[in-house]
Formats: sequence, structure tokens, C-alpha cells
Amino acid sequence: MATGSGRTLKQLRAAFPKEKITGIDLSDSYLKEASRYISDLDGDLIQLIKGNAEELPFENDSFQCISCVYLFHELPRTIRAKVFNEFFRVLEPGGILVLADSIQISDSPDFTSVMESFYKSFHEPFYCDYIKEDIDSKIEEVGFKDVKSNSFFMTKVWSAVK
Ligand SMILES: C[S@@+](CC[C@H](N)C(=O)[O-])C[C@H]1O[C@@H](n2cnc3c(N)ncnc32)[C@H](O)[C@@H]1O
Repeated sequence: MATGSGRTLKQLRAAFPKEKITGIDLSDSYLKEASRYISDLDGDLIQLIKGNAEELPFENDSFQCISCVYLFHELPRTIRAKVFNEFFRVLEPGGILVLADSIQISDSPDFTSVMESFYKSFHEPFYCDYIKEDIDSKIEEVGFKDVKSNSFFMTKVWSAVK
């Protein structure tokens, strides 16, 4: 989800050579770049689809796994909740959600000033709210179980099961 330039897709294909993989992004420009970037991959073709994470063009229970890297800090709080609902809807029962995004203040209070200046330097209007939200609880509220999170320097990774 929010596949951007396609780097995560390439890593996923290396880890899962035989699985069907679909990349979704809102931006034509990013989809074109992803298409160029993954064009030399061996194995089954990765399907790229233009779509909005808020309203995914997929049936209920249609994916075994969703990964989403560095999208949530770009979304306003109400839209983050909407996207979590969509992820829950399209995952099959037992399906796995894996998110990676910026660390939050509760993970690394020592980095608070770095995080607080990030939104100014990079014009990220929703970042200051994102770093304060209890994302684990939001993921649980839509119905996910077994929510785990871990931070690694500036990146935080969540996993959860439908
Ligand atoms: C910071 S980039 C991250 C890209 C990629 N995941 C990575 O880590 O390199 C955020 C991506 O989210 C996409 N995006 C933003 N809002 C979206 C939405 N509502 N639905 C789908 N994609 C969205 C943008 O077009 C962009 O490609």
C-alpha cells in the first residue's frame, strides 16, 4: 500500500518469489516510477494499481497480507482511522498487517526536538499529530488482534493480525 517508488515491492518479491503481489498508490508519477524500478524483476509480474487507501478497489477478505511503509505520518487523524478500517476490510481472517513509519514521541523522547522540526523542514502538516497518537490502540479499535510494535532508530514497525 502507498508503494511509492517501488523499493518495498522489490524487497517483497525477493522474499516471496511465488506470491501474487499488488502495489497500490494514489499518484500516477509514483506508479510510473515504480513500474520502471521493478521492470527488471524476475518472476511473476507485480500488478500496479492506482487507488486510494481510504477507499480501496478490492473485495472484502481478499488479501493475505498488507504492508504499508511511510504513509500514516502524511494523513490526518480521521483519515488514518478510515485507512485502518479499509485495511481490516480487505484482509482475510488471519491476514497480517505490517506497517512501518516514523518513530513517535513515546518511543524516543530524546528525539522530540528532531521530530518537532521535521514537519517544518519537510512541510508535513499532519506529522505533529501523528507522533502523539496511540497507533497501537487505533489498530486494535478496528478489530485487529496481536498488535505488536517495535522501534528501530527513526523507524517504527507494527504488526497485527485480523
Ligand atoms: C512518503 S511516500 C512513501 C512511499 C514508499 N512506501 C516508500 O517507503 O518509499 C508516501 C506515498 O504514499 C502515497 N499516498 C499518499 N496518500 C495516499 C492514499 N490516500 N492512498 C494511496 N497512496 C497514498 C504517495 O503517493 C506516496 O507514494
